[in-house]
Amino acid sequence: MNQDYIQPNEWSILEEGFDVERVKSSESLFSIGNGVMGQRANFEENYSGPSFQGSYIGGVYYPDKTKVGWWKNGYPEYFAKVLNAPNWIGINVFVNDEALDLFTCKKVEDFKRELNMKEGFHRRSFVATLPNDIEISVKATRFLSIIEDELGAIDFEIEVLNSDAEIRFEPYLDGGITNTDANWEERFWKTLEVKSEDDKGFVLSKTLKTEFHVNTYMQSEVLLNGQKQDVDFTETKTEDKLTFSYSIKAEKGQKVSLRKYAGYVTDMNHKRADLVDAASKILDYATKAGFSKLLQEQKEAWEKIWEMADITIEGDVKAQQGIRFNIFQLNQTYLGKDERLNIGPKGFTGEKYGGSTYWDTEAYCIPFYMATKDQQVARNLLTYRYNHLDKAIENAEKLGFTNGAALYPMVTMNGEESHNEWEITFEEIHRNGAMVYAIYNYVRYTGDFDYIPEKGLEVMIAIARFWQQRVNFSEQKNKYVMLGVTGPNEYENNVHNNWYTNYLAKWCIEYCLETIEKVKDAYAEDYKRVMGKTRLNEGEMARWREVAENMYFPYSEKHEVFLQQDGFLDKEIVPIAELDKSQRPINQKWSWDRILRSCYIKQADVLQGFYFFEDHFSKKELEKHFDYYEPITVHESSLSPCVHSIQAALLGRTKQAYEFYLRTSRLDLDDYNKEVEQGCHITSMAGTWMSIVEGFGGMRVKEDQLSFNPTIPEDWKTYSFKVNFRDQILKVKVSADKTVFLLEGDNAIEINVNGKSVEVQPNQELAI
Ligand code: BGC
Repeated sequence: MNQDYIQPNEWSILEEGFDVERVKSSESLFSIGNGVMGQRANFEENYSGPSFQGSYIGGVYYPDKTKVGWWKNGYPEYFAKVLNAPNWIGINVFVNDEALDLFTCKKVEDFKRELNMKEGFHRRSFVATLPNDIEISVKATRFLSIIEDELGAIDFEIEVLNSDAEIRFEPYLDGGITNTDANWEERFWKTLEVKSEDDKGFVLSKTLKTEFHVNTYMQSEVLLNGQKQDVDFTETKTEDKLTFSYSIKAEKGQKVSLRKYAGYVTDMNHKRADLVDAASKILDYATKAGFSKLLQEQKEAWEKIWEMADITIEGDVKAQQGIRFNIFQLNQTYLGKDERLNIGPKGFTGEKYGGSTYWDTEAYCIPFYMATKDQQVARNLLTYRYNHLDKAIENAEKLGFTNGAALYPMVTMNGEESHNEWEITFEEIHRNGAMVYAIYNYVRYTGDFDYIPEKGLEVMIAIARFWQQRVNFSEQKNKYVMLGVTGPNEYENNVHNNWYTNYLAKWCIEYCLETIEKVKDAYAEDYKRVMGKTRLNEGEMARWREVAENMYFPYSEKHEVFLQQDGFLDKEIVPIAELDKSQRPINQKWSWDRILRSCYIKQADVLQGFYFFEDHFSKKELEKHFDYYEPITVHESSLSPCVHSIQAALLGRTKQAYEFYLRTSRLDLDDYNKEVEQGCHITSMAGTWMSIVEGFGGMRVKEDQLSFNPTIPEDWKTYSFKVNFRDQILKVKVSADKTVFLLEGDNAIEINVNGKSVEVQPNQELAI
């Protein structure tokens, strides 16, 4: 049984009723972020029950020394982690000296949480009876400004319901925080100074080793029935913590509130010496504008994002809520403003995956950002990897590769490999192919071929070199083979000839060779520069070609499918439908060796290749492979259902596509994989977007044109989405009997719908 406490709603994530068992899951689901920083939905007031504290700053990380049982040569020395940063949301609340703590209250009633996705804020309300029998009603609203992206704001409002009372608010900043996930239980931060200037507070800290300097700051206001009050305050400083204390008397029925403006400024964006000034300026701006105006600006900013990125679904509230949750979280994680940042698999919602960059960005996220933002955003994501090319070359050198061959890291913050499981670090090398696929995908979609001579080609050459060096010639097979790899299906390690990896390697080489020819003809200057820099010559290219033309692919004549890897057919193939539900998820129920021996596939692997290279295969071939692999796929990676949804839609299996759609879009809301308390699966959310646009909408780019093959799930009346295609915006609205296209732009475009070419005129609806 999946979790089902989230109330269906088109624009909000809603929870009703207080349940200590759900606190950690809700902390993940109701997380807020602004592309630069983000945090789990921890309570502002003290909570002594089980909770997972988390507030994160994009790009601020710590290299946590690797801990393994048995060290092997080549291991990365550390696992890079985006850190739980100093706490600025804290406001301890006392009513007649009794602490408000939902874990110890006598009663908690009418508890509601809302993540308002339309306007970009989090709200929590409840009525609590404290141990001293005072009953209070609380409404706490919080957001992280996406305009002033170093600022957050909280309005914590209390009404005493059954008597007069003295309320004491203690807003604080706490630098003495730890990471839940720390290899050696070390602290990652050092507090440098705890400082106040009148009612402005600052905690200056730095990360150990990486020396990021961060100033966490705050300023608060007290209001009575909406009117600002001049309230005296006291302050307490400890080594890591600054607390201000404000007391105010409230009569029964009066509303008192504390408004806290706070956030982080870091030396990623300011000079170290200016960190206090920078924070002080933001506070002046915030207190001058006031909470309501800031919130109004927040709504307007989100309105602009939704204007382009929204997907509407009529007739299915849960599906609608699911897709908006995904789009909302993606935008909370990355807005494309800063090319040093990227999209961590858990975004700002948890510590797992360390907030670092994975192949998820290239394989899954690029299409979403290409289509819903300015083209530059996707270009920034590619440039991020271009900027890491030297590190990828160093990384390959450490593993014995030469001559400028590059191996991009599986996990990274700064270009260095920072994943420390050998079967992933050394073996899950398919990620290298995703780097090239993303370049191909970007150029195919945007038409911006210039990116290749400018930057992309160097990456492609270094990767082609890697593949040529990574294979070896098998006398027995009379082919090139690739031994000892882990494919996308991480439930198999150290396998030989993973079909997906071999296929990508061959394709990367061929695509690189073909592109070199194009650059040679059309970009002579760049060609000379890149050839000079990489010292690539005909002889080396001939060796690449030899490998690509003679790559080995495991195949079963009997089943007429490519085999995931050598020896796959030795496995006992038992469809998951025959596996007792109590055994799942297998990664939580089975020992690792049992998983490795089983036929069960964690996530799309051969099918991932069919997704990337759809045009290389017939529909019949896809169908065969889908029918062979899907029944043994457990989808225990969030990246899996979306690919299956897109393929099921292509095969005309709309019902099955819809089931996968729900699974991908509500993966966290319904907690399919029983792990949402660790954080949300942000990168796969871009896959959810693809399963509507590419799956049901059937959108593809073929020969510089958009093409569509729309279908619609039974329960949906209509659905609509917008894509930015080469600086013009095309709106697509699908219903059972027609698809309507509307072009917001100046130039008519040719598109292909269900195999026929049609022209869409600017600002005129075209119904097909
Ligand atoms: C998946 C990887 C993915 C990572 C981060 C793992 O569970 O198997 O493919 O890159 O999660 O999302």
